[in-house]
Amino acid sequence: MTNEETQVPPLTIGSAPLAGKTVVVVGGTSGMGRGAVSAAAYAGAHVIVAGRRALTERPEVATGPGSVAQAVVDAADEDSVKQLFDDVGEFDHLFVTAAPKPGNWGPLLTQDLTAARSYLDGKFWSSWLSARYGAEQIHRDGSITFLTGCSAIRPVSGAAMVTAAFGALEAMTPALALELGPVRVNTIRPGLIQSEMWDDVPVEIRDDFYRKARERFPVRRGGAVEDVGHAALFLMTNSFVTGVVLEVSGGEPLVTWA
Ligand SMILES: NC(=O)c1ccc[n+]([C@@H]2O[C@H](COP(=O)([O-])OP(=O)(O)OC[C@H]3O[C@@H](n4cnc5c(N)ncnc54)[C@H](OP(=O)(O)O)[C@@H]3O)[C@@H](O)[C@H]2O)c1
Repeated sequence: MTNEETQVPPLTIGSAPLAGKTVVVVGGTSGMGRGAVSAAAYAGAHVIVAGRRALTERPEVATGPGSVAQAVVDAADEDSVKQLFDDVGEFDHLFVTAAPKPGNWGPLLTQDLTAARSYLDGKFWSSWLSARYGAEQIHRDGSITFLTGCSAIRPVSGAAMVTAAFGALEAMTPALALELGPVRVNTIRPGLIQSEMWDDVPVEIRDDFYRKARERFPVRRGGAVEDVGHAALFLMTNSFVTGVVLEVSGGEPLVTWA
């Protein structure tokens, strides 16, 4: 069979594989979302950087051949998410990284229902909301990518709601791939990434994590936001990948480290 018969689009490998495409990153103001914003802009996309913080508090983004626009959204608020996608209109690729800070994790016996729910609201339901209102505007050859973490498969004591939210997102991924096809739906499961997420964690704990990653991860280093940006770009541009959880972890779950 030829590519024409199977309707396979031409390979999107090139210097600007996202040229002419619009990418929305919910959580693009920091961390892995910021890594994906740069990767997509360097691949030629017009990228909408969505997050809660004021425009004046956002870091500069290098864009390469692409371009960047800023939008304010609270991903856990239905009206706010609806408004974001009404304003954006039609687009191509959605990457959702938004999540509460580590302070919102918590041991079972210290939490009431409101506290436990807050992590699910900020991680699982915010991702669901972005998919719910973003999917209506995504072109047929577009994609949605969620973000979880290795505690989906290897829990950390005292953070059961993180594992629950990640597990739910990973389980939802192939279900939505089936339902929303031909729009593709995938998840990235990162390992330890040296990002702003760790800024509020005491420096000695943070440094200990980074040191253990250098000593014990099979790749002998912790991750960078660019590692995840690279993976997000792959999932946006490979039109035959859907319903998968792509682990980008340096081999974290293969070793004992935390
Ligand atoms: N870093 C790691 O080592 C690591 C490892 C595994 C998994 N993860 C998971 O990966 C996710 C992101 O990590 P990261 O390192 O990229 O974190 P980060 O640097 O703290 O970035 C989080 C982003 O989410 C946005 N955000 C949070 N709540 C939001 C909301 N309600 N509405 C809109 N935007 C919101 C923040 O933007 P605003 O402040 O502008 O709202 C920020 O851009 C988390 O789920 C984390 O648990 C992280």
